[in-house]
Amino acid sequence: MKATITVRAERPADGPAISEVVRRAYTNVAYSDHREHLMIERLRGTDAWIQALSLLAEVDGEVVGHILLTRATIHNTQPSVVTLALAPLSVVPKHQCSGIGKRLVEAARQKAIELGFETILLIGLPSYYPQFGFEPLSRYPITLPFDAPDEDCMVLCLRSGALDGIAGVVEYPDGWLEH
Ligand SMILES: CC(C)(COP(=O)(O)OP(=O)(O)OC[C@H]1O[C@@H](n2cnc3c(N)ncnc32)[C@H](O)[C@@H]1OP(=O)(O)O)[C@@H](O)C(=O)NCCC(=O)NCCS
Repeated sequence: MKATITVRAERPADGPAISEVVRRAYTNVAYSDHREHLMIERLRGTDAWIQALSLLAEVDGEVVGHILLTRATIHNTQPSVVTLALAPLSVVPKHQCSGIGKRLVEAARQKAIELGFETILLIGLPSYYPQFGFEPLSRYPITLPFDAPDEDCMVLCLRSGALDGIAGVVEYPDGWLEH
């Protein structure tokens, strides 16, 4: 029988289970610093945090996946533009490739639209995210405040023309980067 996947927003008691899922998801990932769960813990409760955009996936009541979108800004434009930064996206190894990551990205995208956000930025797998409509950030005059391979830097416009006339540097919230 096919497992039932449920996607829901994080609740107050979910923090430890989410950290554990994120840790497990990245355990064997070569490019990981294995500290992604700490970023979530730093961001939780800050101004960048949007409770409805910390989503988890459950199978038979067990948390097996998680996605986080937090508030960031694009500076140099007048006025600065609010955007979302997607990171991290995590599915525990046992449940990978069964559609959970896809459900999480699609649910987060839908919720971001409902909340009125217009763009989502990410640094991630160029083999994975284009299926959701993410395109290279290099198509726009928008840069990151640190070095990252061009092909890993992507953006999704949630409304057609959302980035028209927008240029600048992305500013991530305190806590997004480790100091
Ligand atoms: C990457 C990750 C989030 C994908 O989640 P998932 O639940 O395994 O993926 P899904 O089952 O939703 O995959 C959806 C589609 O993408 C494909 N896909 C899955 N992982 C992929 C990958 N790493 N690269 C390219 N395509 C991938 C699947 O084959 C599937 O294709 P289909 O619709 O044609 O069948 C998950 O494997 C993971 O947590 N990996 C470790 C942590 C990580 O790398 N996170 C992302 C950092 S950017």
